[in-house]
Amino acid sequence: MDDSIIQGFSKYSKQQRINVLIQRYGFQEDLADWLGSFEASDETFRKIINDLSENPVSSFHLPFSIAPNFMVNGKNLFFPLVSEESSVVAALANAAGYWARRGGFQAEVPGTEKNGQVHFIWNGNPEYLQSLFPEIRSKLLAESDFLTTKMKERGGGIKGIDLKSLPQILPNYYQLDVGFETCDAMGANFINSCLEQFGKSLKEYFRTSGKVSVNNRECEIIMAILSNYTPESRVRAWVECPVTDLLDGKLPQECEMFARKFEQAIRISMADVSRAVTHNKGIFNGIDALAIATGNDFRAIEACGHAFAARNGRYSGLTNVQVEDGKFRFSIELALTAGVVGGVTAVHPMAKLAMKILDNPSAKELMMYLAVAGLASNFGAVKALVSFGIQHGHMKMHLSNILNQLHIPEERRAEIQNYFQDKTVSFSAVEGYWLTIK
Ligand code: MEV
Repeated sequence: MDDSIIQGFSKYSKQQRINVLIQRYGFQEDLADWLGSFEASDETFRKIINDLSENPVSSFHLPFSIAPNFMVNGKNLFFPLVSEESSVVAALANAAGYWARRGGFQAEVPGTEKNGQVHFIWNGNPEYLQSLFPEIRSKLLAESDFLTTKMKERGGGIKGIDLKSLPQILPNYYQLDVGFETCDAMGANFINSCLEQFGKSLKEYFRTSGKVSVNNRECEIIMAILSNYTPESRVRAWVECPVTDLLDGKLPQECEMFARKFEQAIRISMADVSRAVTHNKGIFNGIDALAIATGNDFRAIEACGHAFAARNGRYSGLTNVQVEDGKFRFSIELALTAGVVGGVTAVHPMAKLAMKILDNPSAKELMMYLAVAGLASNFGAVKALVSFGIQHGHMKMHLSNILNQLHIPEERRAEIQNYFQDKTVSFSAVEGYWLTIK
């Protein structure tokens, strides 16, 4: 066996894992102390964070920031945000304040249904299977009752089961397409447990039912898994104001021209994939920052959002704008799910704090806040793009990273920041200036 293959790494103690790193990479012997300095000093917190994953050797820090002034459906909120990109929080905070002075954000959730599929192969006649399906459905529901009772008490459960014959994908291939309501939970475990139980019941039905011929008793379950694409779990958010109110003293152009360029930028994001991807990336700058802060699965949210962006057969920007009769209306519609009970949200101390800062929202409220974060982030980006350009603000924010990289002493930073107020920031420009004043 190859000696370089490590067996049972997950059973090593943290110190043993660190020793492996020291040996392999020639790190200093005090690596454990250094890694330890990034861990929570409180033992309970440290254990909670370490238990979130496998093979931890330390913790990885990102800033936990606050963007105040988010007015959503008349409620004034602080948004907790986790992002490594310096301009994201600034853009969200600016957009929040800007729209708080213009009536705030409105949002609604038209639906929250999730779904999952049991993928299987069966060699019999598809029409005959459809005719058996009412009986099969009753069996699936009855035999999963032990899993769904609690969720039903909370107002959720299984919303529907369809049988889909899909021979165009694979010969004799079918799906059980199942709708779920999981209330305030993400519900991944609930959905997957139900689907796996359906798989077992289905297999048993074919094996034992007197209505299935002996030649067709075999049903091969390929897999049973939730879908992260949830087009029936939707959220909308929007802002609006008279075009003449768009001016905020900082825009270099007239309101009408700003509105026109903004509208053009949105039209481009709808039609051109190169722009659409960047446009949507900017939307997810905001959504992910709030999703991470609240312990939600941002990969699932992103995957779903991007699939939704391509729902009409072409990948498009997720926001829309109408400039009509002197009114500016900017909106977003997303397929998205969020959970507020269970999972990381319930155990990560910072996620719990984030939920408190948001006034312990329901899942529907959190969906609205996520959509608002996306809309605000996109507003900030497009506003900058069609006025001063993005680098103006970006590089100002990036200046503090450059100051850190150059190890500029704290007491000399203001001087450099002042100097670059009206100049183009770049690493070499900052380094050059520092060398002249040092
Ligand atoms: C940068 O993280 C995001 C932007 O590129 C988004 C956009 O272009 O709309 C500024």
